[in-house]
Amino acid sequence: DRLAAIRSALMDWYGVHARDLPWRMAPGSAERADPYRVWLSEVMLQQTTVPHATPYFQAFVTRWPTVGALAAAPDEAVMGAWAGLGYYARARNLLACAQAVARDHGGVFPDTEDGLRALPGLGAYTAAAVAAIAFGRRAVVVDGNVERVMARLFTVDTPLPKGRPELRALADALTPEPETFDPGDWAQALMDLGSRICRPRSPLCGQCPLAGDCQARASGPPEAWPKKLAK
Ligand code: ADE
Repeated sequence: DRLAAIRSALMDWYGVHARDLPWRMAPGSAERADPYRVWLSEVMLQQTTVPHATPYFQAFVTRWPTVGALAAAPDEAVMGAWAGLGYYARARNLLACAQAVARDHGGVFPDTEDGLRALPGLGAYTAAAVAAIAFGRRAVVVDGNVERVMARLFTVDTPLPKGRPELRALADALTPEPETFDPGDWAQALMDLGSRICRPRSPLCGQCPLAGDCQARASGPPEAWPKKLAK
């Protein structure tokens, strides 16, 4: 069926084109990524791009290699290391979350989406991303990139933000079962496709593994999705 074909095409593409990133396992790896590194990278990436976040990520994990080490860091040290990433509230949330993991969970991240969501300052997106990537849980990981991919694949005409539940439902329907594809690989394949191929402007449809399955590509131009509410 169509969804199964899309899943296989995306995962084949990811097997060849996955970016080698310092918080990520190679596609198909039997080893799981460190939850601390996944969490830290996801919080930084809500703020900025992969190239900008990467040196900050490296500096953080060198200085504070575990969530326990980060939890014990002085406030000013974490704020100082965060400088340049912007939006200090995120750094404060980061530290509060690390302290909760250290204090209430013995320095071990909860291994389910609900458990993660219960941590202070850890939002729905981050809980889903860490559950999928670090723990191999089936979780529906939806950021702006994934919304755009869904809107184009399925030509969702409901404008954002109203279309959000519909886009999420499509992402859920498309998310494979953990027995077929690794949930972390799946989530990161969609993110890579959204940021590198299915770009907001000038999407690289000629390089897209899903071009043949894409309704926006057929109706064109793909940039017309997602629809935005007229201002
Ligand atoms: N953007 C947000 N999370 C990401 C990840 N894990 N890999 C690549 N880009 C991302």
